[in-house]
Amino acid sequence: MVIVHVSAECYPMAKAGGLGDVVGALPKYQKNIGEEAMVVMPMYRTLFLEQNDWDVHFKGNAHLGNWYFDFTIIKESTGKLGYDLFLVDIHGLLDRPKIYGYPDDPDRFIGFQVAVITWLAQWKKLPNVVHCHDHQAGLIPFMMKHCSDFKKLQAVKTVVSIHNAQYQGIMGWDKSILIPKWDELKRGLLDWNNNINPLAAAVKCADKITTVSHSYLQQLKYQSNGLEKLFEAEQAKSVGILNGIDVDIWNPATDPMIECHYDSSNVAIEKQKNKKALCVKYNLDFNKPLIVFIGRLVGEKAADILPSALQHALDKTNCGANFFIIGAGDTAIESALNYLVQLYPGNYNTFIGYEEKIGHEAYASADFLLMPSRIEPCGLNQLYALRYGTIPMVRDTGGLHDTVVDMGDTDGFGIKFLNASEEDIVYSVERAIVVYKDKKQMNKMIQLAMQIDHSWESVVKEYKQVYESIL
Ligand code: GLC
Repeated sequence: MVIVHVSAECYPMAKAGGLGDVVGALPKYQKNIGEEAMVVMPMYRTLFLEQNDWDVHFKGNAHLGNWYFDFTIIKESTGKLGYDLFLVDIHGLLDRPKIYGYPDDPDRFIGFQVAVITWLAQWKKLPNVVHCHDHQAGLIPFMMKHCSDFKKLQAVKTVVSIHNAQYQGIMGWDKSILIPKWDELKRGLLDWNNNINPLAAAVKCADKITTVSHSYLQQLKYQSNGLEKLFEAEQAKSVGILNGIDVDIWNPATDPMIECHYDSSNVAIEKQKNKKALCVKYNLDFNKPLIVFIGRLVGEKAADILPSALQHALDKTNCGANFFIIGAGDTAIESALNYLVQLYPGNYNTFIGYEEKIGHEAYASADFLLMPSRIEPCGLNQLYALRYGTIPMVRDTGGLHDTVVDMGDTDGFGIKFLNASEEDIVYSVERAIVVYKDKKQMNKMIQLAMQIDHSWESVVKEYKQVYESIL
Protein backbone atom coordinates (compact mmCIF):
# COMPACT_ATOMS: atom_id res chain seq x y z
CA MET A 1 0.00 0.00 0.00
CA VAL A 2 1.39 3.43 -0.94
CA ILE A 3 0.46 6.21 1.47
CA VAL A 4 1.39 9.85 1.00
CA HIS A 5 1.16 11.98 4.15
CA VAL A 6 0.62 15.68 3.45
CA SER A 7 1.38 18.00 6.35
CA ALA A 8 2.59 21.47 7.28
CA GLU A 9 4.86 19.98 9.97
CA CYS A 10 7.14 17.00 10.26
CA TYR A 11 9.84 16.58 12.90
CA PRO A 12 12.84 17.03 12.53
CA MET A 13 12.37 19.23 9.46
CA ALA A 14 9.86 21.61 11.10
CA LYS A 15 7.72 21.36 14.21
CA ALA A 16 5.46 23.82 16.02
CA GLY A 17 3.66 21.24 18.14
CA GLY A 18 2.51 17.64 18.41
CA LEU A 19 1.50 17.49 14.75
CA GLY A 20 5.18 17.55 13.81
CA ASP A 21 6.00 14.69 16.17
CA VAL A 22 3.17 12.53 14.87
CA VAL A 23 3.85 13.05 11.17
CA GLY A 24 7.57 12.55 11.81
CA ALA A 25 7.03 9.13 13.40
CA LEU A 26 3.90 7.53 11.94
CA PRO A 27 5.34 6.77 8.44
CA LYS A 28 8.44 5.16 9.93
CA TYR A 29 6.33 2.68 11.85
CA GLN A 30 4.01 2.15 8.87
CA LYS A 31 7.06 1.14 6.88
CA ASN A 32 7.93 -1.38 9.60
CA ILE A 33 4.69 -3.21 8.85
CA GLY A 34 5.38 -3.22 5.14
CA GLU A 35 3.53 -0.17 3.89
CA GLU A 36 5.15 2.32 1.56
CA ALA A 37 4.63 5.53 3.53
CA MET A 38 6.16 8.93 2.83
CA VAL A 39 5.73 12.58 3.75
CA VAL A 40 5.42 15.71 1.64
CA MET A 41 5.59 19.14 3.28
CA PRO A 42 6.57 22.72 2.44
CA MET A 43 10.23 23.63 2.09
CA TYR A 44 10.71 26.20 4.84
CA ARG A 45 14.14 27.69 5.52
CA THR A 46 14.98 25.60 8.58
CA LEU A 47 18.24 24.34 10.05
CA PHE A 48 17.35 20.80 9.00
CA LEU A 49 17.09 21.98 5.40
CA GLU A 50 20.54 23.51 5.52
CA GLN A 51 22.22 20.65 7.34
CA ASN A 52 21.05 17.84 5.07
CA ASP A 53 21.47 16.77 1.48
CA TRP A 54 18.64 16.87 -0.99
CA ASP A 55 18.04 15.50 -4.47
CA VAL A 56 15.87 17.27 -6.99
CA HIS A 57 12.98 14.88 -7.56
CA PHE A 58 10.47 16.77 -9.71
CA LYS A 59 10.02 20.13 -11.36
CA GLY A 60 6.62 21.44 -12.28
CA ASN A 61 4.45 24.49 -12.64
CA ALA A 62 1.04 25.48 -11.41
CA HIS A 63 -0.93 28.64 -10.74
CA LEU A 64 -2.64 30.49 -7.94
CA GLY A 65 -5.29 32.57 -9.66
CA ASN A 66 -3.37 34.45 -12.31
CA TRP A 67 0.03 34.04 -10.68
CA TYR A 68 1.86 31.24 -12.53
CA PHE A 69 4.70 29.68 -10.60
CA ASP A 70 7.39 27.04 -10.95
CA PHE A 71 7.94 24.63 -8.11
CA THR A 72 10.51 21.99 -7.26
CA ILE A 73 10.08 18.85 -5.18
CA ILE A 74 13.25 17.82 -3.41
CA LYS A 75 13.85 14.61 -1.49
CA GLU A 76 16.07 13.91 1.52
CA SER A 77 18.88 11.97 -0.08
CA THR A 78 20.02 9.45 2.56
CA GLY A 79 16.70 8.00 3.75
CA LYS A 80 17.92 8.40 7.31
CA LEU A 81 14.48 9.26 8.68
CA GLY A 82 13.25 5.78 7.85
CA TYR A 83 10.88 7.08 5.14
CA ASP A 84 11.09 9.40 2.16
CA LEU A 85 10.68 13.06 3.00
CA PHE A 86 9.73 15.34 0.10
CA LEU A 87 9.74 19.13 0.30
CA VAL A 88 7.84 21.49 -1.95
CA ASP A 89 9.88 24.53 -2.88
CA ILE A 90 7.83 27.45 -4.12
CA HIS A 91 10.20 30.34 -4.34
CA GLY A 92 9.02 33.41 -2.44
CA LEU A 93 5.97 31.68 -1.00
CA LEU A 94 7.09 28.79 1.19
CA ASP A 95 10.83 29.28 1.63
CA ARG A 96 10.65 31.36 4.81
CA PRO A 97 11.98 30.66 8.32
CA LYS A 98 8.64 30.26 10.09
CA ILE A 99 5.98 27.62 9.52
CA TYR A 100 2.96 29.83 10.20
CA GLY A 101 2.16 33.40 11.05
CA TYR A 102 2.46 35.27 7.75
CA PRO A 103 -0.41 37.42 6.46
CA ASP A 104 -0.47 35.40 3.22
CA ASP A 105 -0.71 31.99 4.94
CA PRO A 106 -3.93 31.11 3.05
CA ASP A 107 -2.12 31.66 -0.28
CA ARG A 108 0.97 29.79 0.96
CA PHE A 109 -0.92 26.68 1.95
CA ILE A 110 -3.19 26.67 -1.09
CA GLY A 111 -0.05 26.98 -3.25
CA PHE A 112 1.52 24.10 -1.35
CA GLN A 113 -1.51 21.86 -1.78
CA VAL A 114 -1.89 22.68 -5.47
CA ALA A 115 1.79 21.83 -6.06
CA VAL A 116 1.45 18.54 -4.16
CA ILE A 117 -1.46 17.27 -6.21
CA THR A 118 -0.01 18.60 -9.46
CA TRP A 119 2.98 16.39 -8.68
CA LEU A 120 0.88 13.37 -7.61
CA ALA A 121 -1.16 13.58 -10.80
CA GLN A 122 2.08 12.93 -12.76
CA TRP A 123 2.83 9.65 -10.99
CA LYS A 124 2.80 6.63 -13.30
CA LYS A 125 1.32 4.46 -10.60
CA LEU A 126 -0.92 6.55 -8.34
CA PRO A 127 -0.74 6.21 -4.53
CA ASN A 128 -3.46 4.24 -2.75
CA VAL A 129 -4.14 6.81 -0.08
CA VAL A 130 -3.44 10.52 0.31
CA HIS A 131 -3.44 11.10 4.05
CA CYS A 132 -3.93 14.80 4.88
CA HIS A 133 -3.21 16.32 8.29
CA ASP A 134 -5.14 19.32 9.63
CA HIS A 135 -6.51 22.27 7.66
CA GLN A 136 -3.24 23.13 5.91
CA ALA A 137 -3.80 20.02 3.80
CA GLY A 138 -7.59 20.14 4.10
CA LEU A 139 -8.46 21.37 0.61
CA ILE A 140 -6.78 18.41 -1.06
CA PRO A 141 -9.74 15.98 -0.87
CA PHE A 142 -11.98 18.64 -2.46
CA MET A 143 -9.46 19.51 -5.18
CA MET A 144 -8.77 15.86 -6.01
CA LYS A 145 -12.46 15.22 -6.49
CA HIS A 146 -13.80 18.45 -7.97
CA CYS A 147 -11.04 20.29 -9.88
CA SER A 148 -10.89 19.41 -13.57
CA ASP A 149 -7.06 19.66 -13.60
CA PHE A 150 -6.80 16.73 -11.19
CA LYS A 151 -9.32 14.34 -12.74
CA LYS A 152 -6.62 11.66 -12.72
CA LEU A 153 -6.72 11.65 -8.91
CA GLN A 154 -10.49 11.47 -8.59
CA ALA A 155 -10.51 7.80 -7.59
CA VAL A 156 -7.59 8.00 -5.16
CA LYS A 157 -8.79 7.65 -1.56
CA THR A 158 -8.26 10.38 1.00
CA VAL A 159 -8.02 10.27 4.78
CA VAL A 160 -7.97 13.40 6.91
CA SER A 161 -6.55 13.35 10.43
CA ILE A 162 -7.67 16.08 12.78
CA HIS A 163 -5.03 17.04 15.30
CA ASN A 164 -6.69 20.26 16.29
CA ALA A 165 -10.07 21.54 15.10
CA GLN A 166 -9.64 24.93 16.77
CA TYR A 167 -7.67 25.99 13.72
CA GLN A 168 -9.68 25.73 10.50
CA GLY A 169 -7.87 27.97 8.00
CA ILE A 170 -11.01 30.07 7.43
CA MET A 171 -10.76 32.57 4.55
CA GLY A 172 -13.12 34.82 2.60
CA TRP A 173 -14.74 33.77 -0.65
CA ASP A 174 -12.47 36.22 -2.49
CA LYS A 175 -9.78 33.52 -2.14
CA SER A 176 -11.79 31.06 -4.19
CA ILE A 177 -9.97 32.23 -7.34
CA LEU A 178 -6.80 30.62 -5.93
CA ILE A 179 -8.29 27.15 -6.21
CA PRO A 180 -7.70 25.73 -9.71
CA LYS A 181 -10.85 25.59 -11.83
CA TRP A 182 -13.47 23.79 -9.76
CA ASP A 183 -17.01 22.64 -10.24
CA GLU A 184 -19.25 25.57 -9.20
CA LEU A 185 -22.05 23.17 -8.26
CA LYS A 186 -19.83 21.96 -5.44
CA ARG A 187 -19.58 25.37 -3.78
CA GLY A 188 -21.35 24.05 -0.69
CA LEU A 189 -18.51 21.65 0.02
CA LEU A 190 -16.06 24.52 0.51
CA ASP A 191 -18.44 26.72 2.45
CA TRP A 192 -19.11 27.05 6.16
CA ASN A 193 -20.94 30.17 7.42
CA ASN A 194 -20.29 32.09 4.21
CA ASN A 195 -16.55 31.54 4.27
CA ILE A 196 -14.23 29.03 2.71
CA ASN A 197 -13.40 26.67 5.54
CA PRO A 198 -10.62 24.18 4.63
CA LEU A 199 -11.18 22.01 7.70
CA ALA A 200 -14.91 21.78 7.06
CA ALA A 201 -14.22 21.00 3.39
CA ALA A 202 -11.85 18.24 4.50
CA VAL A 203 -14.46 16.70 6.78
CA LYS A 204 -17.08 16.83 4.02
CA CYS A 205 -14.91 15.49 1.20
CA ALA A 206 -12.51 12.95 2.74
CA ASP A 207 -13.31 9.25 2.49
CA LYS A 208 -12.45 8.83 6.14
CA ILE A 209 -11.82 11.15 9.09
CA THR A 210 -9.65 10.28 12.05
CA THR A 211 -9.18 12.19 15.29
CA VAL A 212 -6.17 11.71 17.53
CA SER A 213 -8.09 10.22 20.46
CA HIS A 214 -11.47 8.58 21.05
CA SER A 215 -12.74 11.17 23.49
CA TYR A 216 -11.82 14.01 21.18
CA LEU A 217 -13.99 12.52 18.47
CA GLN A 218 -16.98 12.62 20.84
CA GLN A 219 -16.05 16.07 22.08
CA LEU A 220 -15.98 17.57 18.58
CA LYS A 221 -19.74 17.07 18.39
CA TYR A 222 -20.30 19.64 21.10
CA GLN A 223 -17.09 21.70 21.12
CA SER A 224 -15.35 22.27 17.81
CA ASN A 225 -15.26 25.99 17.21
CA GLY A 226 -18.46 26.09 15.16
CA LEU A 227 -18.24 22.74 13.34
CA GLU A 228 -20.26 20.74 15.89
CA LYS A 229 -23.15 19.98 13.51
CA LEU A 230 -20.77 18.89 10.79
CA PHE A 231 -18.96 16.41 13.05
CA GLU A 232 -22.32 15.11 14.20
CA ALA A 233 -23.41 14.61 10.58
CA GLU A 234 -20.17 12.93 9.49
CA GLN A 235 -19.70 10.62 12.46
CA ALA A 236 -20.31 7.48 10.42
CA LYS A 237 -17.04 7.96 8.54
CA SER A 238 -15.06 9.16 11.57
CA VAL A 239 -12.87 7.14 13.88
CA GLY A 240 -10.71 7.97 16.90
CA ILE A 241 -7.15 6.60 16.94
CA LEU A 242 -4.99 7.48 19.89
CA ASN A 243 -1.54 8.80 18.93
CA GLY A 244 1.58 6.84 19.65
CA ILE A 245 5.01 8.16 20.57
CA ASP A 246 8.34 7.48 18.94
CA VAL A 247 9.87 5.21 21.55
CA ASP A 248 13.25 5.35 19.79
CA ILE A 249 13.49 9.08 20.35
CA TRP A 250 11.67 9.16 23.69
CA ASN A 251 13.59 6.56 25.65
CA PRO A 252 15.18 7.49 29.00
CA ALA A 253 17.57 4.53 28.67
CA THR A 254 19.22 5.89 25.52
CA ASP A 255 18.09 9.52 25.06
CA PRO A 256 21.21 11.45 23.94
CA MET A 257 19.70 14.72 25.17
CA ILE A 258 19.71 13.73 28.86
CA GLU A 259 22.57 13.33 31.32
CA CYS A 260 21.78 10.19 33.36
CA HIS A 261 20.08 7.31 31.61
CA TYR A 262 17.62 4.99 33.33
CA ASP A 263 14.87 2.44 32.99
CA SER A 264 12.30 1.25 35.52
CA SER A 265 14.93 -0.67 37.50
CA ASN A 266 17.07 2.34 38.42
CA VAL A 267 14.71 5.26 37.92
CA ALA A 268 14.65 6.07 41.64
CA ILE A 269 18.38 6.83 41.68
CA GLU A 270 19.18 8.08 38.19
CA LYS A 271 16.21 10.37 37.70
CA GLN A 272 17.12 12.10 40.96
CA LYS A 273 20.57 12.87 39.55
CA ASN A 274 18.98 14.55 36.56
CA LYS A 275 16.67 16.43 38.89
CA LYS A 276 19.60 17.63 40.98
CA ALA A 277 21.43 18.99 37.93
CA LEU A 278 18.33 20.77 36.66
CA CYS A 279 17.59 22.24 40.10
CA VAL A 280 21.13 23.59 40.37
CA LYS A 281 21.01 25.05 36.87
CA TYR A 282 17.65 26.76 37.34
CA ASN A 283 17.88 27.64 41.04
CA LEU A 284 15.19 25.26 42.32
CA ASP A 285 14.95 23.30 45.56
CA PHE A 286 15.92 19.67 45.00
CA ASN A 287 14.13 18.48 48.14
CA LYS A 288 10.71 19.57 47.02
CA PRO A 289 8.53 18.03 44.32
CA LEU A 290 9.38 19.46 40.91
CA ILE A 291 6.32 20.24 38.80
CA VAL A 292 6.93 21.25 35.18
CA PHE A 293 4.72 22.72 32.50
CA ILE A 294 5.90 22.26 28.92
CA GLY A 295 3.83 23.73 26.14
CA ARG A 296 2.67 26.63 24.08
CA LEU A 297 1.68 29.54 26.29
CA VAL A 298 -1.82 29.97 24.89
CA GLY A 299 -5.38 29.85 26.17
CA GLU A 300 -6.04 26.42 24.70
CA LYS A 301 -3.41 25.02 27.07
CA ALA A 302 -4.89 27.17 29.91
CA ALA A 303 -1.52 28.90 30.21
CA ASP A 304 -3.36 32.18 30.90
CA ILE A 305 -4.45 30.96 34.33
CA LEU A 306 -1.02 29.56 35.23
CA PRO A 307 0.51 32.75 36.69
CA SER A 308 -2.29 33.30 39.23
CA ALA A 309 -2.81 29.57 39.89
CA LEU A 310 0.88 28.94 40.58
CA GLN A 311 1.22 32.04 42.72
CA HIS A 312 -1.80 30.91 44.72
CA ALA A 313 -0.41 27.36 45.00
CA LEU A 314 3.01 28.61 46.16
CA ASP A 315 1.44 30.89 48.77
CA LYS A 316 -1.10 28.38 50.02
CA THR A 317 1.42 25.55 50.43
CA ASN A 318 4.13 27.83 51.77
CA CYS A 319 6.29 26.94 48.74
CA GLY A 320 5.73 23.22 49.18
CA ALA A 321 6.63 22.54 45.55
CA ASN A 322 8.89 23.89 42.79
CA PHE A 323 7.64 24.95 39.40
CA PHE A 324 9.52 25.12 36.13
CA ILE A 325 7.74 26.47 33.06
CA ILE A 326 9.00 25.83 29.54
CA GLY A 327 7.28 27.39 26.56
CA ALA A 328 6.57 30.43 24.47
CA GLY A 329 3.47 32.05 23.09
CA ASP A 330 1.27 34.91 24.18
CA THR A 331 3.61 37.72 25.29
CA ALA A 332 1.31 38.83 28.12
CA ILE A 333 1.39 35.29 29.55
CA GLU A 334 5.15 35.12 29.09
CA SER A 335 5.72 38.29 31.10
CA ALA A 336 3.22 37.33 33.81
CA LEU A 337 5.05 34.00 34.20
CA ASN A 338 8.45 35.69 34.19
CA TYR A 339 7.32 38.15 36.84
CA LEU A 340 6.95 35.32 39.37
CA VAL A 341 10.66 34.41 39.12
CA GLN A 342 11.64 37.32 41.38
CA LEU A 343 8.79 36.64 43.82
CA TYR A 344 9.71 33.00 44.46
CA PRO A 345 13.47 32.65 44.01
CA GLY A 346 14.56 29.07 44.61
CA ASN A 347 11.10 27.64 43.99
CA TYR A 348 10.05 28.86 40.60
CA ASN A 349 11.69 29.45 37.25
CA THR A 350 10.90 29.72 33.55
CA PHE A 351 12.50 29.02 30.22
CA ILE A 352 10.67 31.17 27.70
CA GLY A 353 11.20 29.58 24.31
CA TYR A 354 11.44 25.98 23.31
CA GLU A 355 14.40 23.78 22.68
CA GLU A 356 14.03 20.08 22.18
CA LYS A 357 16.89 19.36 24.63
CA ILE A 358 15.40 21.30 27.54
CA GLY A 359 12.11 19.48 27.01
CA HIS A 360 13.85 16.09 27.24
CA GLU A 361 15.84 17.18 30.32
CA ALA A 362 12.67 18.32 32.02
CA TYR A 363 10.88 14.99 31.47
CA ALA A 364 13.97 13.18 32.78
CA SER A 365 14.14 15.36 35.92
CA ALA A 366 10.65 16.31 36.98
CA ASP A 367 8.42 14.52 39.47
CA PHE A 368 5.20 15.82 37.92
CA LEU A 369 4.02 17.28 34.61
CA LEU A 370 1.12 19.75 34.74
CA MET A 371 -1.30 19.92 31.78
CA PRO A 372 -4.41 21.96 32.60
CA SER A 373 -5.46 22.19 28.91
CA ARG A 374 -8.89 23.54 28.04
CA ILE A 375 -8.71 21.50 24.84
CA GLU A 376 -6.38 18.56 24.24
CA PRO A 377 -7.12 16.45 21.16
CA CYS A 378 -4.56 13.86 22.22
CA GLY A 379 -1.61 15.40 24.01
CA LEU A 380 1.79 13.83 23.61
CA ASN A 381 3.52 15.43 26.58
CA GLN A 382 1.71 13.26 29.11
CA LEU A 383 2.78 10.20 27.08
CA TYR A 384 6.42 11.32 27.08
CA ALA A 385 6.11 12.01 30.81
CA LEU A 386 4.82 8.49 31.52
CA ARG A 387 7.74 6.95 29.70
CA TYR A 388 10.17 9.05 31.75
CA GLY A 389 8.47 8.14 35.05
CA THR A 390 7.02 11.62 35.51
CA ILE A 391 3.54 11.70 37.06
CA PRO A 392 1.00 13.54 34.87
CA MET A 393 -1.34 16.09 36.50
CA VAL A 394 -3.97 16.66 33.86
CA ARG A 395 -7.34 18.19 33.22
CA ASP A 396 -9.84 15.46 32.40
CA THR A 397 -10.44 16.22 28.71
CA GLY A 398 -9.85 14.72 25.24
CA GLY A 399 -6.75 12.54 25.00
CA LEU A 400 -5.82 13.34 28.60
CA HIS A 401 -9.06 11.67 29.67
CA ASP A 402 -8.14 8.58 27.64
CA THR A 403 -4.54 8.16 28.79
CA VAL A 404 -4.35 9.07 32.49
CA VAL A 405 -5.86 7.18 35.44
CA ASP A 406 -6.21 9.13 38.69
CA MET A 407 -4.25 7.82 41.67
CA GLY A 408 -7.52 7.48 43.57
CA ASP A 409 -8.64 4.75 41.14
CA THR A 410 -7.39 1.17 40.86
CA ASP A 411 -3.84 1.12 39.55
CA GLY A 412 -3.90 4.86 39.08
CA PHE A 413 -0.69 6.67 38.21
CA GLY A 414 -1.72 10.29 37.77
CA ILE A 415 -3.65 13.24 39.10
CA LYS A 416 -6.77 14.32 37.26
CA PHE A 417 -8.95 17.39 37.74
CA LEU A 418 -12.19 18.54 36.19
CA ASN A 419 -11.80 22.22 35.45
CA ALA A 420 -9.17 24.42 33.88
CA SER A 421 -9.44 26.68 36.92
CA GLU A 422 -7.17 28.16 39.54
CA GLU A 423 -8.89 26.21 42.32
CA ASP A 424 -8.49 22.85 40.62
CA ILE A 425 -4.82 23.47 39.86
CA VAL A 426 -4.11 24.53 43.46
CA TYR A 427 -5.92 21.48 44.80
CA SER A 428 -3.96 19.19 42.46
CA VAL A 429 -0.69 20.73 43.57
CA GLU A 430 -1.69 19.98 47.18
CA ARG A 431 -2.42 16.38 46.22
CA ALA A 432 0.97 16.16 44.48
CA ILE A 433 2.78 17.45 47.56
CA VAL A 434 1.06 14.85 49.75
CA VAL A 435 1.76 11.89 47.49
CA TYR A 436 5.35 13.02 46.91
CA LYS A 437 6.05 12.47 50.62
CA ASP A 438 4.68 8.92 50.44
CA LYS A 439 7.72 7.32 48.78
CA LYS A 440 6.10 3.90 48.51
CA GLN A 441 3.05 5.20 46.69
CA MET A 442 5.17 7.48 44.50
CA ASN A 443 7.39 4.60 43.42
CA LYS A 444 4.40 2.42 42.69
CA MET A 445 2.94 5.09 40.44
CA ILE A 446 6.26 5.64 38.67
CA GLN A 447 6.53 1.91 37.98
CA LEU A 448 2.97 1.74 36.66
CA ALA A 449 3.57 4.77 34.46
CA MET A 450 6.77 3.45 32.94
CA GLN A 451 5.18 0.12 32.05
CA ILE A 452 2.50 1.63 29.84
CA ASP A 453 3.08 1.03 26.15
CA HIS A 454 2.15 3.91 23.87
CA SER A 455 4.43 2.90 21.02
CA TRP A 456 3.27 3.27 17.43
CA GLU A 457 3.42 -0.46 16.76
CA SER A 458 -0.19 -1.17 17.63
CA VAL A 459 -1.45 2.21 16.40
CA VAL A 460 -0.26 1.69 12.82
CA LYS A 461 -2.45 -1.40 12.61
CA GLU A 462 -5.49 0.76 13.39
CA TYR A 463 -4.57 3.14 10.56
CA LYS A 464 -4.15 0.17 8.28
CA GLN A 465 -7.71 -0.89 9.04
CA VAL A 466 -8.91 2.61 8.20
CA TYR A 467 -7.19 2.47 4.81
CA GLU A 468 -8.46 -1.03 4.11
CA SER A 469 -12.01 0.04 4.91
CA ILE A 470 -12.00 2.47 1.95
CA LEU A 471 -9.87 0.65 -0.61
C1 GLC B 1 -2.15 18.93 18.30
C2 GLC B 1 -3.02 18.73 19.53
C3 GLC B 1 -2.45 17.70 20.49
C4 GLC B 1 -2.08 16.44 19.72
C5 GLC B 1 -1.16 16.77 18.57
C6 GLC B 1 -0.75 15.56 17.74
O1 GLC B 1 -0.99 19.60 18.66
O2 GLC B 1 -3.24 19.95 20.21
O3 GLC B 1 -3.35 17.39 21.50
O4 GLC B 1 -1.44 15.52 20.57
O5 GLC B 1 -1.78 17.68 17.70
O6 GLC B 1 -1.84 14.86 17.23
